[in-house]
Amino acid sequence: MTRAISVGLAGLGTVGGGVIEMLHKNADLVAARAGRNIVVTAVSARNRRRDRGFSIDGLQWFDDAVAMAADPSIDVVVEVMGGSDGPARALVEAALTAGKPVVTANKALVAVHGADLAALSEKTGTTLAFEAAVAGGIPVIKSLREGLAGNRISHVAGILNGTCNYILTVMREQGRDFPEVLADAQKLGYAEADPAFDVDGIDAAHKLAILAALSFGRPVAFEAVYIEGIRKISALDIGFARELGYRIKLLGIARQTDAGVAARVHPCMVPESSPIARVDGVFNAVVAEGDFVGRVMLEGRGAGAGPTASAVVADLIDIARDRVTPVWGAGSGSLSNAPSVSMDGHVCAYYLRLMVVDRPGVIADVTAALRDFGVSMGSLLQRGRAPGGAVPVVIVTHETQESAMLSAIQKIAQLSTVLEPPALIRIEPA
Ligand SMILES: NC(=O)c1ccc[n+]([C@@H]2O[C@H](COP(=O)([O-])OP(=O)(O)OC[C@H]3O[C@@H](n4cnc5c(N)ncnc54)[C@H](OP(=O)(O)O)[C@@H]3O)[C@@H](O)[C@H]2O)c1
Repeated sequence: MTRAISVGLAGLGTVGGGVIEMLHKNADLVAARAGRNIVVTAVSARNRRRDRGFSIDGLQWFDDAVAMAADPSIDVVVEVMGGSDGPARALVEAALTAGKPVVTANKALVAVHGADLAALSEKTGTTLAFEAAVAGGIPVIKSLREGLAGNRISHVAGILNGTCNYILTVMREQGRDFPEVLADAQKLGYAEADPAFDVDGIDAAHKLAILAALSFGRPVAFEAVYIEGIRKISALDIGFARELGYRIKLLGIARQTDAGVAARVHPCMVPESSPIARVDGVFNAVVAEGDFVGRVMLEGRGAGAGPTASAVVADLIDIARDRVTPVWGAGSGSLSNAPSVSMDGHVCAYYLRLMVVDRPGVIADVTAALRDFGVSMGSLLQRGRAPGGAVPVVIVTHETQESAMLSAIQKIAQLSTVLEPPALIRIEPA
């Protein structure tokens, strides 16, 4: 067998620990598939003395992770520290510049700086691999970039954040509201102490930006992704969704249109019978539509030590085998320059829920505002009676342009009989 590949592992947290464990437990199998042993020989983290539940005895220690790039004994760098800038970016840039292949799980880094990093990877002829960055253990990068390489992909969508999917699932199953379920998820370790990246949709947007770049063969454009998180979803809306035959999911959706690429992350109502509606808890799923293959759906665990290590180790095996694919599937000269399309022109049916004063004439004012902006109503639902008090009213529109819908809502929100900010959720066909 050829000489072992020596890995410098930067980051010894959830993912780093998983990589060490997998390379240890499955060493024979990995060696057989890689054609050589893959061995972690050097590590870096912030705190050398932290008890991590595994031994780093005998491994070279780096206080400064970036110095790994210059160490001649290291063949490949694995960056699992996190952060779109700082040491993670510095290390990846230094390694690529030095001609050392890089494996990273860092979606923030790839989404925000992926265009520049891909250019650097191409310039130096050095692999930048990031299977673990999107949907953890689901081999979605490989599937889109290699397995579906002969297809024109028109549409890619997914449940890309396990924390949000877990929270929405528990809210639905237990009829509880967001703040309470979030607090429980934090206690159980399913949500971070600072949950903003997850619940505000940013993490899903990082992953969607990467999927869109791969699917449509263009440089990553995170800043063009429309983002809305799940904080405003209430148990009340989840209940109405059920009554209407929908489930609420945080989806990332990217579509190639004649005008360009539209990419958005927001809560969606999806038909209860659609396969994606059935993906619950911490699971992730990705659906892609290719012109020859049709629809493909992948489902699995999107986070955690095991699934993420599975993806990192697969990348290391590809590197050991010299299986090289350009970062976005094609060289920079062949990438598309399709523009990004803004959300204003988006067209869909909307779920609109209002809390209104239970008094004659109120609905007429609301429907007049919809009419003024050309929004056509599909159905209206009112539950409960509280003369003079507040009652929920649900309106489902026909297909409407986003800009018209937003203008109508602005007017509706100003009505004195509308007591709370309107809740608006886009309905996504199956
Ligand atoms: N967790 C998942 O399920 C998952 C899934 C997919 C992708 N990812 C991505 O994988 C990356 C790592 O995530 P994680 O969950 O493993 O994070 P984590 O558990 O917080 O671990 C981060 C590790 O990086 C080290 N580190 C942080 N800053 C450093 C610095 N400046 N210099 C050297 N080491 C530093 C930390 O050192 P100390 O231990 O000494 O503090 C820690 O060992 C992130 O980009 C994340 O988005 C994670």
